[in-house]
Amino acid sequence: MSDPLSQHTDYGQMPLNDSDVLADPIEQFRLWLSNASDSHVYEPNAMVLSTVDASGSPSSRTVLLRAIDAAGFEFFTNYSSIKGRALVANPATALVFPWYAIHRQVLVQGVARPIAAALSDEYFATRPRGSQIAAHASEQSQPIASRALLEQRVTELEAEFEGRDVPRPSDWGGFVVEPRSIEFWQGRSSRLHDRVRFVRAESGAWERMRLQP
Ligand SMILES: Cc1cc2nc3c(=O)[nH]c(=O)nc-3n(C[C@H](O)[C@H](O)[C@H](O)COP(=O)(O)O)c2cc1C
Repeated sequence: MSDPLSQHTDYGQMPLNDSDVLADPIEQFRLWLSNASDSHVYEPNAMVLSTVDASGSPSSRTVLLRAIDAAGFEFFTNYSSIKGRALVANPATALVFPWYAIHRQVLVQGVARPIAAALSDEYFATRPRGSQIAAHASEQSQPIASRALLEQRVTELEAEFEGRDVPRPSDWGGFVVEPRSIEFWQGRSSRLHDRVRFVRAESGAWERMRLQP
């Protein structure tokens, strides 16, 4: 049986040449996201979101990227959850896209802001009905005495909303992470990985540098 703690994968030879990296890191991200999808990376839009709460305590969890544009990286969650409360107290955040299967990761640092309520309404309306009801049933991150209690709430809500659209709960919605830096990491042989980092200047322009592995 192989020991998962002592594996030494030698990453592929696929380079990240300076000339291959697009001038706009958002466009470069889109390209890598589509490469990850085409390579059948499982949940290519899954990203690990780190937050720091009001007492300075960090925490991380996975969320799904739902949109990406010049404004930033958008995801949806419960505003009263552990992450939601942390982001309201301290909007500084970091994201990791861990595309291990293709020897790549993208690291983002930025500031998270709630999106407009109308945009959250629009997205909520596209969600499967079961997910919409779950958003009402779950006070995300709060303790609950049993699974049965949660399922009972779902049954009650199904009855309450029968025959009509499920409205968005007021504490459920989107955040957009406005990027301050974006790093593209490509695994290379003998740990001589390629790292290209973009940092946003005060002017809004992106400055680009290569980092040592
Ligand atoms: C693949 C995957 C995708 C997830 N996507 C989301 C998401 O988009 N939004 C969300 O609130 N939680 C998502 N979760 C659950 C979170 O990781 C987390 O358990 C939950 O949001 C509560 O986090 P918190 O207590 O730190 O606020 C996802 C989990 C996994 C494993």
